[in-house]
This record gives sequence, structure tokens and C-alpha cells, in this order.
Amino acid sequence: NNYVAIMAGGIGSRFWPKSRTSYPKQFLDILGTGKTLIQATFERYSKIVPTENIYVVTSEDYTDIVASQLPSLPKENIVAEPFRKNTAPCIAYIAFKIHEKNPDAVMIAAPADNHIPDFEKFSVVINKALDFVSHINALTTIGIKPTHPNTGYGYIQHEDIEVAPGIYKVKTFTEKPNLELAKAFIKSGDFLWNSGIFTWKCKTIIKSFEEHLPEIYELFYSEKEKLNTPAEEKIIEEIYSQCPSISIDFGIMEKASNVYIIPADFTWTDLGTWNSAYANMEKDYFGNAVAGSDVIVFDTHNSVIHAPEKKLVLVQGMEDYIIVDTEDVLLICKKDKEQEIKDYVAEVKRTK
Ligand code: GDD
Ligand code: MG
Repeated sequence: NNYVAIMAGGIGSRFWPKSRTSYPKQFLDILGTGKTLIQATFERYSKIVPTENIYVVTSEDYTDIVASQLPSLPKENIVAEPFRKNTAPCIAYIAFKIHEKNPDAVMIAAPADNHIPDFEKFSVVINKALDFVSHINALTTIGIKPTHPNTGYGYIQHEDIEVAPGIYKVKTFTEKPNLELAKAFIKSGDFLWNSGIFTWKCKTIIKSFEEHLPEIYELFYSEKEKLNTPAEEKIIEEIYSQCPSISIDFGIMEKASNVYIIPADFTWTDLGTWNSAYANMEKDYFGNAVAGSDVIVFDTHNSVIHAPEKKLVLVQGMEDYIIVDTEDVLLICKKDKEQEIKDYVAEVKRTK
């Protein structure tokens, strides 16, 4: 009864220019482990559920990349989206699709860009979530102890009393707060980050769509019999062209009253930005994380320099900078302004 949907349709714009619209970060080996992020994610979940119960939902532009990177994933489990509409439509689609096959299905919706080195600890927590939601109509997420006021995450406050061992009811969920609020959350010591790894019964999340995103619910509900049939592709094209673009966090998690959290004790990183890569890369004596074939640094501190092209790169006098050189783009950005890379990219529109 357990299924996993790996959400792999993002464009990773904060990882620009390494991550490009045509080949985003989930398909890259960001940390130099020999595996791309989606390969590591797939491997993690294939130890939790059988491979035939794993789906990868992605943009139709990436289905070939997914097929080549995950040869053991059945081809029919690669689910293509005709438009990028953020995570709420993606989750609605896959929840309806699995529900049509198995009305009692429990699903994990997981990002493709998480770095979780300790599988054993992860496995205990995720199995706890699977067991919990099979008994109660709950939406669960895994909570991460925050380390700094990152404005790219969801912040969650929970009740003190456990409803089951290690599981708490969520009091407040605030998606991507501004810096001031994020600082206040961190200072209070009362908040966890949302990992974005959700577990629920398909029917529970479908009910939540009916309640909180009725427009999306109606679009899928009225055509649900066509899913898993030859008519699917065409109907999905129509549904998606009408679907609003919204994340599951803003659309449902902030609003629902049946949200529960399982605080995790494992190391977790959303490899979403250059600082998160920096944190997981090896540093030299001066705190520089350098990846490149020919990079020379002088009087430079706490910077990340990524220059894999066959080119000599010389850096002098930089402190707390992100420097990324690719074949056709050079980025130089202050480390504390990395959330803005997204906006600059949208402006230059040269992400291809
Ligand atoms: N199929 C599909 N379609 N996948 C998508 C789409 C889409 O339109 N948009 C994003 N995704 C995928 C991304 O590839 C990623 O694996 C996952 O969904 C989450 O999207 P992100 O864009 O990376 O979200 P985020 O990191 O800004 O925020 C989410 O994750 C944080 C933790 O990493 C939220 O859930 C936050 O609350 C959370 O803290
Ligand atoms: Mg992310």
C-alpha cells in the first residue's frame, strides 16, 4: 500500500548558473559523490518501498533524463507534466493517479534535492510516518532542527504533547518568512524547518485539496477515470493549462488543521543554494570550498568557487563570495544574497 512520489520538476534557479532550465540541479552530482541528487533520492526510497511503487513526477522536458539516470525505474512510472505549475498540481496529479489504482494507498511526496547521508535514522522516521498515517487521516511532514534564519524554508511550531511516540500536532506553519520573521523564529527556539518530505493517505490529501484548493481538486476530480488510460496525456494537458501555479506549502500545509510533524534526528540538507553546497563541501584552511580543474586563490576567505571548465581561474581578495564559472556564464554574488539569484535569473531570462 505504500508509494513514493519524487517531485523532480523544479528548475533549481537559486543554483544558477550550474543548474539550468535545460538540465536542473536534481540531475547533477552537486557534491561530487558519483551520484546525481535524483539517483541518491531514488536509491534511498527504493529501500523503503518496491521500485514499481516509486513514481517520478517531472516536466515533460526531463523525462528522458530521468529514464537514463534511473534505468531500474519502470518507464510507466515517469509521470510527465506539460507545464510547470509548482508542487500543488504535481501532488494532486500523482495522488489522484495512485488513488485510482489503489484507494487505500499511502504516499510519500519527496523532493528530489535532499541530501540525507544517514539512511538508518531516516528509515526509522519515515517508517514511523507511514505507520501513523495509515491509522489516522493526517498530513505529516518531517521536521528539521534549524541552524540559521534561512528564508527559503517553511517554519513549523508544534504542540508540546506527543500524539504518538515522536509525533506532534502542528500549531503554525509559515512558508518562506521574511528575514526578520525567520530571525525571530530562530531566536524563540520553538520552530523546526519543514523538510518538504510529506506522508499521507492519497484520500486524505485529496480531501485537503477539496477543502483548500477546490479549483485544482475539481479539475482532477472530474477527469479522474481517465488517469492510467490512453486518454491521460491529453486530459492532463487540458487540466494543467487551467491549473493555478502554487506550492503545496502555501496552498495546503499553511492552512490545514490536520498537520503533524515528526522531528528528525538525522542530518538533512536541501541542496537548493550555493551556501548549502558550500556547507557540504570540503573547505581549505581559509574556509574556501573550491571545485575546479585549475583554480588559484589569493587572500580569499570563506568563499565558494566552482569552476569546472578547462580554464585558469584566479581569484584575489574575495571574502564571503559565490563565484561560479560555466562555459557561457560567470556568476559573482555575495554569499548572503544568494536567495536573490532566483530574481536576477528571472530578469535576465538566459537560463536555457
Ligand atoms: N514535478 C514537479 N513540478 N516538481 C516540482 C515543481 C513542479 O512544478 N516545482 C518544484 N518541484 C520539485 C523540486 O524539483 C524539488 O524537488 C521539490 O519539488 C521542492 O521544490 P523546491 O522549489 O525545491 O521547494 P523549496 O525548497 O523552495 O521549498 C520546499 O522545500 C523546503 C525544504 O527543502 C518547501 O516545502 C519548504 O517548506 C521546505 O522548507
Ligand atoms: Mg528545494
